[in-house]
Amino acid sequence: MLVDSHCHLDFNDFEEDFEEMLDRAKEQGVTAMLNAGNNIGELQHQLEISEKYPFIYTAVGVHPHNAHEYPEIKAQDFITAAQGHKKIVAIGECGLDYYYDYSPREMQIKIFKEQIKAAQETGLPLIIHNRESDQDMIEILQAAYKEKPFSGVIHCFSSGKELADFALSIGFYISASGIITFNKSNDIREVFAQIPEDKLLVETDAPYLAPVPVRGRRNESAFVSYTAEKLAQIKNKSFEEIAQITSDNFYKLFRKASDKGRYDYE
Ligand code: NI
Repeated sequence: MLVDSHCHLDFNDFEEDFEEMLDRAKEQGVTAMLNAGNNIGELQHQLEISEKYPFIYTAVGVHPHNAHEYPEIKAQDFITAAQGHKKIVAIGECGLDYYYDYSPREMQIKIFKEQIKAAQETGLPLIIHNRESDQDMIEILQAAYKEKPFSGVIHCFSSGKELADFALSIGFYISASGIITFNKSNDIREVFAQIPEDKLLVETDAPYLAPVPVRGRRNESAFVSYTAEKLAQIKNKSFEEIAQITSDNFYKLFRKASDKGRYDYE
């Protein structure tokens, strides 16, 4: 079994072949997916999907790209949403993106901190997006963690060793995406070689970042198997071992996700 720990199944990209896409995932042994939240305004659509399919969990958040659309949003908005629905198992994705800078950095930081507060208050894990913002990320997480610990994952990890080491030092998980299959990702593979097995997750981030050998296509949950295969090579494990380890880790981190959901898959 495999769990796609981060994808965006509510995006229009999947409108036309949603059921077929799920069938292909099932054929590859994918037993559950976590649909990350990008935009709290889309939460209703995410919930409709999660209510229809027991094995699709969801999260509530505002991506740093969209932070500028929610200048007044508060931790309580995320808390109320998350506590109001059993399929919302995490806060995020949220964080910092200094590569695209689609939202002003001050705004990214402000909205990120509100979501950290929501994770602290609810006890739900935080799904973190970080791109070329390692130093600010470490400082913000460190300061908040000192005030009140919380759990989380650095999703789609593409940062340096310093952030990985810091994240591990506060008990966070680190998720491998298709990026680890790319030719030029040697540095990232080296970081993954050092990450303890009990902190590893796999994901697609579909529809983005399809792994080799389907790179450039629309990504979908079935393709998480390619990433798991590469991770197995990096960790000197069998595919089955990595699939089991990352699935177990998923349910350890996202405790509100019951693994009973996957039995309803049939
Ligand atoms: Ni994402």
